[in-house]
This record gives sequence, structure tokens and C-alpha cells, in this order.
Amino acid sequence: MSPMYAVQFDFPGGRETLSYREAPEPTLGAGEVMIGFEASSINPADLKISGGRIAPRAGTSPFTLGWDVAGIVDQVAPGVEGFRVGDRVIGMSTMASTGRGTWSQLVSLPATSLALAPTRIDPTVLAQLPLVGLTALKAVDELGPLPDQTVLVVGAAGAVGSCVVQLLARLGVEVHALVRTRERADALASEGQVTAVYTGEAPTSTFDAIIDAAGIDAAYALRPGGSYVTCVPGTLPESVGAGGSIGATAIVPESGANLATLLGFLADGSLSLGEPSVFRLSDIDAALTAFENRRARRTVLIA
Ligand SMILES: NC(=O)c1ccc[n+]([C@@H]2O[C@H](COP(=O)([O-])OP(=O)(O)OC[C@H]3O[C@@H](n4cnc5c(N)ncnc54)[C@H](OP(=O)(O)O)[C@@H]3O)[C@@H](O)[C@H]2O)c1
Repeated sequence: MSPMYAVQFDFPGGRETLSYREAPEPTLGAGEVMIGFEASSINPADLKISGGRIAPRAGTSPFTLGWDVAGIVDQVAPGVEGFRVGDRVIGMSTMASTGRGTWSQLVSLPATSLALAPTRIDPTVLAQLPLVGLTALKAVDELGPLPDQTVLVVGAAGAVGSCVVQLLARLGVEVHALVRTRERADALASEGQVTAVYTGEAPTSTFDAIIDAAGIDAAYALRPGGSYVTCVPGTLPESVGAGGSIGATAIVPESGANLATLLGFLADGSLSLGEPSVFRLSDIDAALTAFENRRARRTVLIA
């Protein structure tokens, strides 16, 4: 195997444990596609994993970090259909489950986790979609919202939250938003997809359903018998389940089919992604600083 470069860590710890270094090429397993990296994005899960708050359930050290990838097909395993060398694809690796990261010049993933992506959309846009889009879609599916429901999105200014807002809006749901700061509230209100934006606290016992993309307890805002979905494992409020309300945690699945659905929403304009801060993969330290300082809604890594 010839060497290439990847962002890896040997042991969980602080920023200094992460490095851009030579690493062996990943192997192309049965049913898989090898992708030449064009772009990825930074997500909170990356810091939770590199910092040791979440341990990968498979794989061995050193671990390559990263969940999202946009790139060009470099090799296709025998028998895989639907992908050819030179195609642009996007994919998401559930790194916490598989131990396989995407911040690498070559990335091998199951073909079923990938979708063909249009070449006219910039990789820095495409790379923002997989993890947050699939999570938002899963959260909305868990809820199974009806068009006449009023839904509160908690953390609506974040990456997952803003996708949830847009997916609900395209279903005709009345969307209310809870954000942390006035600045975020003003920005969200100007996007025109929410009926009301609250900072600090939302009205009590009001909403038919809540999707929490911030990991805080907002159950006080749910009407009796309502539905509550959290995107942050371990944060489903204990009070959900009392008074006939129901709750669920949305865990993101790898799914090429769902990515194709999300790409359709990007193409028809019902989903849009903001302007990211962009850094080279080799400049991972500066990229993480920008991510932590929230210079933009998203921080994207390019080859
Ligand atoms: N279950 C899964 O499979 C899965 C998949 C993807 C992500 N996640 C998790 O989902 C969460 C969100 O991810 P993300 O990428 O969207 O992160 P993000 O972009 O940082 O968004 C989080 C948002 O929550 C907001 N927030 C924090 N405290 C709040 C409060 N008290 N009231 C209102 N808003 C508050 C933040 O506000 P500011 O903008 O003011 O900071 C931010 O906008 C993370 O914990 C992530 O690990 C889970």
C-alpha cells in the first residue's frame, strides 16, 4: 500500500493529539467504493471522539477522524453497480460505530452509504450535507410530523437544527425556533421559514412536537401528549413519557438513498446550506480553531 495523508490520533486527548500525517491507504472491501477526498466538514462528533467523550466501537488506534466526505470515485470493488471511476459522490461514515474516518486523502466506504452528486455543486457545499442532513431527516422521520402540527426546533441556528427547520418547512409544518442568542434569532428570522423565534426560553406546554438539536431539556414547552425527539444521545428528558407524551432519540444511519433524497432537496431549492469557513485538511489546527470560535455555521476541510 502506498502512503497518503490523513488526520489521525493515537489516543483521545486535546487538540495536540491530532495530526496530519502519513498513513496507509485504506483497503477496498467487498461492496465498497474508494473515494479521492475533495472536502469534508467538522462536526461536534469529531471533537467528542478525539476528546474521548465517545469511543469508537470498532477499529484500532491510530484512528482517522471525520464523518463527512465529498469526492471523486477512485476505485470500485468488483460487482458494485451504480458508481464509476471519476463520478463525484458524497457519503457519511458513522465513525463512532465503525472507527473509519473520512479526513483522509483516500476514503473507502460501502457503496450503499454513498450517493452520486452533481458536479455543478461545489464540494464545499456538498461536504456540509451528509451528517447533519441525514440526522435532520432521521429526526423528522422519527417525529412523523403532520402538516397541521406546531413544532419547536431547539438549537435551530445550529447545523442540524437549521436543516431540521428547512425539512419541516418543506412539509408545511408551522415551525417555531429556540436559539441561544439574539444575534442568532435575528439571522434565523430573516431566513423567513419560522413563525417565531425565542431566545432563552420558549412558551410552556405549547408545542405538538419538539425536535432538540442542542441537547437541552425543553420538555416544559411540550403540550401534554406531544412528541419529543432529541438528536443528542443521553439527553431525552426524563419527564417525556409522562402525561401521554412520547419520546425518541434520533441516531444517524449511513444511507446513500437518504443522501440522494437530500441532494434532491438541494437541487429543488427547498434546502440550502450556508457559506462555510474553508481550510485545507493539512491545516487542521487552524480549522479546529475556527470551528470552536464558530466563525461560520460550518467549517469545511478541502484537499
Ligand atoms: N444522534 C446523532 O446521530 C447525531 C448526529 C449528528 C449530530 N448530533 C449531535 O447533535 C448536536 C447538534 O449538532 P450540530 O452539528 O448542529 O451542532 P451546532 O452547529 O453546534 O448546533 C448546536 C446549536 O445548539 C445551540 N444551543 C446550545 N445551547 C442552547 C440553548 N440553551 N438554547 C438554544 N440553543 C442552544 C447552539 O447555539 P449557538 O449557535 O449560540 O452556539 C447551536 O446553534 C451535537 O450534540 C451533535 O453531536 C447527533
